[in-house]
Amino acid sequence: MFKINENYLKLPGSYLFSTIAKKVAAYTEANPDKEIIRLGIGDVTQPLAPAIIEAMHKAVDEMGKAETFRGYAPDLGYQFLRDAIAQEDYKAKGADISADEIFVSDGAKCDSGNIQEIFSVDNKIAVCDPVYPVYVDTNVMAGRTGTYDAAKETWSDVIYMPCTAENQFAPDFPKETPNLIYLCFPNNPTGSTITKDQLQGWVDYANKVGAVIIYDAAYEAYISEENVAHTIYECPGARTCAIELKSFSKNAGFTGVRLGYTVIPKDLKCKDVSLHSLWERRHGTKYNGAPYIVQRAGEAVYSAEGREQLKKQVAYYMNNAGIIKEGLQAAGYSVSGGVNAPYIWLKTPDGMSSWEFFDYLLETANVVGTPGSGFGPSGEGYFRLTAFGSYENTLAAMERIRAM
Ligand SMILES: Cc1ncc(COP(=O)(O)O)c(C=O)c1O
Repeated sequence: MFKINENYLKLPGSYLFSTIAKKVAAYTEANPDKEIIRLGIGDVTQPLAPAIIEAMHKAVDEMGKAETFRGYAPDLGYQFLRDAIAQEDYKAKGADISADEIFVSDGAKCDSGNIQEIFSVDNKIAVCDPVYPVYVDTNVMAGRTGTYDAAKETWSDVIYMPCTAENQFAPDFPKETPNLIYLCFPNNPTGSTITKDQLQGWVDYANKVGAVIIYDAAYEAYISEENVAHTIYECPGARTCAIELKSFSKNAGFTGVRLGYTVIPKDLKCKDVSLHSLWERRHGTKYNGAPYIVQRAGEAVYSAEGREQLKKQVAYYMNNAGIIKEGLQAAGYSVSGGVNAPYIWLKTPDGMSSWEFFDYLLETANVVGTPGSGFGPSGEGYFRLTAFGSYENTLAAMERIRAM
């Protein structure tokens, strides 16, 4: 008889967003006349920018002619896209990353889940708490997290770094030394970020203890403050300790188009083995590349028109963030985030649990958000609203919340 990967059986409960979907479906069925506003899941709502659509149309036409048809993409991604990324996301920001250190993929979810594969199962991971669930769950699947404590909702072999109002949602260095450190700034779910000096502290720490930082910069486009790094490679020393993950989902609305990339500097080594060579081997073996049409769409993100149009799109969502944040503050809520990220993180009122507040908001205002406890034990007592809705829905949701 065959055997399964029993690590999968250790995964607790169903995925956060399916639980939310089930609760909302049950409520809608019982109350068909109620109009629900969804500020829960982090999906974008604005259409693709014209410069991107134009690039995609052109690429589609190329695919229809024998002279310009493309089959499999190069393993690491098309040179035109990797050059644009290296120039605009790194060199223009003073970061020393070259095109051949960039691996194009179909998004940061896969990359953030797959990257653990190139590390030994004996490594100990550290994560922020609350956290984007993919980092922990994929390490559970790999057998790296020990046993689950259902009461505490923690894994025995994971180092948790609480991020709460007490430390301004910025993790402290852990007491126990980790091998792999997952950081995501600006952060999902808290919507907070850390300063460039704080990030430099993490780079120095990782180099000192011989750890690798897996840095998820999916929300980089939302940074509005001066003293926040747009890439970890702005920090001296990051080339020997950091892998960076990027996504086109939130800066360019590619959640359904699918495009992302991972950066592994060639200086990042375990003794004399470069992590770049391992990821290159993995990429070449298990992945056949993002579609040509999508990579051309990605290139258009960096064109002058594309950049102008996307700046407006990000500003549209950040205007929503401001409306939510100010609206909640006016209604007496304690709120953070929403300045460098499209997420607003609020303290639930009157000691309500995150799920109690979810039900209260759904039933009283017909607004759907995300319970903070779904992202980890330190998220209990918090709640996430996203700025990715339409302007009209955001205004309407705030009016309803104010009236509660
Ligand atoms: C922190 C973080 N990383 C990665 C992703 C996934 O990005 P992608 O759409 O590129 O897979 C998300 C999506 O919500 C996210 O919040």
